Amino acid sequence: MAERERILKIRNLNISFKTDSGTVNAIRGVNLDLYRGETIAIVGESGSGKSVTTKAIMGIMANNGTIDSGSIEYTWHDENTGEVRTEDIVKLNEKQMQKEIRGRKIAMVFQDPMTSLNPTMTIGKQIMEPMIYHYGKSKEEAYAKSLELLELVGITDAEKRMKNYPHQLSGGMRQRIVIAIALSCDPYVLICDEPTTALDVTIQAKILELIQDIQKKKNLSVIYITHDLGVVAKVADYVNVMYAGKIIETGTIDEIFYDPRHPYTWGLLSAMPDLDTNDPELYTIPGTPPNLAVPVKGDAFAPRNQYALNIDLRVEPPMFEVPGSTTHKVASWLMHPNAPKIEMPHALKKRLEKMEKGGK
Ligand SMILES: Nc1ncnc2c1ncn2[C@@H]1O[C@H](COP(=O)(O)OP(=O)(O)OP(=O)(O)O)[C@@H](O)[C@H]1O
Ligand SMILES: [Mg+2]
Repeated sequence: MAERERILKIRNLNISFKTDSGTVNAIRGVNLDLYRGETIAIVGESGSGKSVTTKAIMGIMANNGTIDSGSIEYTWHDENTGEVRTEDIVKLNEKQMQKEIRGRKIAMVFQDPMTSLNPTMTIGKQIMEPMIYHYGKSKEEAYAKSLELLELVGITDAEKRMKNYPHQLSGGMRQRIVIAIALSCDPYVLICDEPTTALDVTIQAKILELIQDIQKKKNLSVIYITHDLGVVAKVADYVNVMYAGKIIETGTIDEIFYDPRHPYTWGLLSAMPDLDTNDPELYTIPGTPPNLAVPVKGDAFAPRNQYALNIDLRVEPPMFEVPGSTTHKVASWLMHPNAPKIEMPHALKKRLEKMEKGGK
């Protein structure tokens, strides 16, 4: 296997927001790696910090937000000099982000295509504009490339579609357009924030296939953000489970799906709808996430965790490496060599075994 090329390296990222009810520590010490051509997923309940983390990678921050510490190193091959370059995105100013990184090297596809498309501008103009802005392409060149892109994302009648406005297209088509725009400047990283939740199930599957297909063709690195572990199982190489602004478990897709260790990950997997049986009694994790305006003690999940040890309530657990793996890490005191051995719930074990047999 060729050596893996690291493209993003996030270390100890801390982000807070000033609000009327105090400072919200939304991102608390996130570490994340992304390699060339690979796909990582970030999963977790609403409010766990998935979007804030990925927006930080794009250099997008709400006015009341600050990056308090940490780094987001981005590494790429300079097309002009051939050199390998690394920049810490946290240290770049808005102008540099806009000109060099955002939309150019790192592009993002959001959940609702309507919010990323301009309703008053034709599709054609919207695809051509970033190429003209970032690459100084002529109108003719941008037009020709737009047609290619539309074909790449599976849109027929491309010339006609270029003249359409967003409202003249279906939801699935609009999302394809958004993907075409995201790809127009040949980014290295594509961030997909719930790219299919606004679409119906058959279209969802098509869009996921499309992204995978393009990823292979272009050797793109992809970050998927989703609530839907079914999607994760289909597309990701690595999974990062987020809770209350921290990554509490990380590993390969098989490690997370067949050997999950953090009780929160058990909860998420138990809450995943079973597509085969359509079991109506869906499990929900009891309780609610903590208020991040109040300092978190110990493992933030401990108050909702029936397996929590005393120490989980008091002392923040480090990232323990799962013995025998270099990729699987878990932030829970249950992983301490002296901790009592606790197995995942029996029903979940059965379910995962069944999934493993049936293939993903
Ligand atoms: N501008 C802001 N001001 C105050 N708090 C914010 C702001 N933006 C985000 N937050 C808080 O940061 C935390 C993380 O939010 P984020 O949007 O990243 O969650 P998420 O994991 O993407 O959730 P969802 O699955 O619902 O999209 C939440 O507690 C949220 O309330
Ligand atoms: Mg979000």
